[in-house]
Amino acid sequence: MLEKINNICCIGAGYVGGPTMAVIADKCPEIQVNVVDINQARINNWNDSDFSNLPIYEPGLAEIVKNCRGRNLHFSTVIEENIALADMIFISVNTPVKKKGIGAGQASDLKWIEASARQISKYAVGKTIVVEKSTLPVKTAQTIKNILEAHVLNTSNDKKFSILSNPEFLAEGTAINDLENPDRVLIGGEDQDAINLLIDVYLNWVDKEKILTTDLWSSELSKLTANAFLAQRISSINSISALCESTGADVNDVALAIGMDKRIGLEFLRPGPGFGGSCFKKDILNLVYICNHYGLYQAAKYWQTVINLNDWQQKRISKIIVEKLFGTISGKKIAVLGFAFKANTNDTRESPAINICRDLLEEGSNLHIYDPRVSQDQIKMDLGHSQIIDSQNLLFEGKWEFSKSVELAANGADAILVLTDWEEFKTLDWEKLSKIMRSPSWLFDTRSISNAIEAKSFGINIWRLGDGALN
Ligand code: UDX
Ligand code: UDX
Ligand code: ADP
Repeated sequence: MLEKINNICCIGAGYVGGPTMAVIADKCPEIQVNVVDINQARINNWNDSDFSNLPIYEPGLAEIVKNCRGRNLHFSTVIEENIALADMIFISVNTPVKKKGIGAGQASDLKWIEASARQISKYAVGKTIVVEKSTLPVKTAQTIKNILEAHVLNTSNDKKFSILSNPEFLAEGTAINDLENPDRVLIGGEDQDAINLLIDVYLNWVDKEKILTTDLWSSELSKLTANAFLAQRISSINSISALCESTGADVNDVALAIGMDKRIGLEFLRPGPGFGGSCFKKDILNLVYICNHYGLYQAAKYWQTVINLNDWQQKRISKIIVEKLFGTISGKKIAVLGFAFKANTNDTRESPAINICRDLLEEGSNLHIYDPRVSQDQIKMDLGHSQIIDSQNLLFEGKWEFSKSVELAANGADAILVLTDWEEFKTLDWEKLSKIMRSPSWLFDTRSISNAIEAKSFGINIWRLGDGALN
């Protein structure tokens, strides 16, 4: 039996694997942590001597990597050897929604998980604990187990595997803080010895009371449910934001008034352009898929509406912009501030900005997009080149350009559209901006973060999401 964990391997050096392993290495200097990935370019970035080139932007991450890299934190594409060395292997590969085949558009594509499990079964040596970290549909642990055990049966050597589910609850932008000070750590599994070894890793910095153990399936389902509940709060408040605009109420006042009821709580009640990120939509789609699979059609329908509302909110915003700009935005310049799905990340996966910008392009507008962290190449991948073909092969007429500053984006613009809640958008110089925009100029603030009152005082027309009193 393993006494303690000396060597960890993490398969997948992405938004989950990278920061999680960096924190484990930082908190457990006696454990060697090898993060492996098939993507050589990504690994090169993790090993870059210039720490501003790490593949992920996350406050506090570069400092930790600086401390640990080369000491007990290593990034490489050497997968087989590192699997063989490991006592514990975390699987943190991506699990996007399936694009085709059974469950397309809803179920997660597990091909990368399966590939990882096959590699582990082939190269692991002796007793190995396999920890699923990626967001996965319920019962994936069973699939991993089947693959690993099939190999052991076939080869009758000394390999032994235990599977644990240890879902990640970190949010991008606050990943380091979430990892260092988790609300809870959840470990699902059947093998108590393996569970204890993983608990020992976390006890290096997490209080015992915060470590929760369950069976495998409850752990997997808890992850989906947590994300579904969080997303549901956003859809709920966003539905009320529309009602506030129609009735003259202010959604931020409503959010405060309901949030002070401690049964509801103040967190996660910020109205906006809808939730984005790699998890919420995918996890709810998984939940819908599983509910349907078990014949629980009402439950499936219930969760599907959370996504429908999110799509509707995004469409609603682009429609309002067209209406306010006299029914046409063809040839009009709109400065888009923010493209990441939330502040403090360079991640654009499922960002509401993608759909909203696509709608505005379809209406023929010229978008000048500024984001402090998202690269031009990333926006190109998300939106396509200046002219993009949609699914019906219609040509979008609008164009987009990348702007290096707010001022460049706003120069000559008919409107400024705030889509991401970056700190710097709170303190824009409205006097200056009002002078360089084209009149009548507009501010569309979907995050209620800009100083709209000040902007208004310089003659800019205002639309603030959910603010029926101001609009
Ligand atoms: C509710 C509101 O709580 C209160 O703030 C408002 O002023 C009036 O409506 P009430 O209906 O008296 O109060 O009781 P409440 O405790 O909210 O329970 C309502 C129903 O929800 C009950 O049938 C209760 O059994 C059920 N419930 C409540 C659950 O099923 N699960 C829970 O976790 C909580
Ligand atoms: C989420 C979960 O929070 C995390 O626990 C899980 O492990 C992964 O998924 P993440 O997607 O990184 O994390 O960020 P999160 O802060 O949850 O934001 C998700 C989206 O919801 C963003 O687009 C954000 O702008 C939006 N949001 C969040 C709101 O619109 N309003 C809010 O009040 C909170
Ligand atoms: P997440 O947000 O879940 O971390 P990312 O896409 O950021 O998702 O990261 C997942 C990483 O997993 C990617 O860098 C990808 O190259 C890597 N990956 C996928 N499949 C494998 C595999 N079989 N072996 C090693 N790395 C893999």
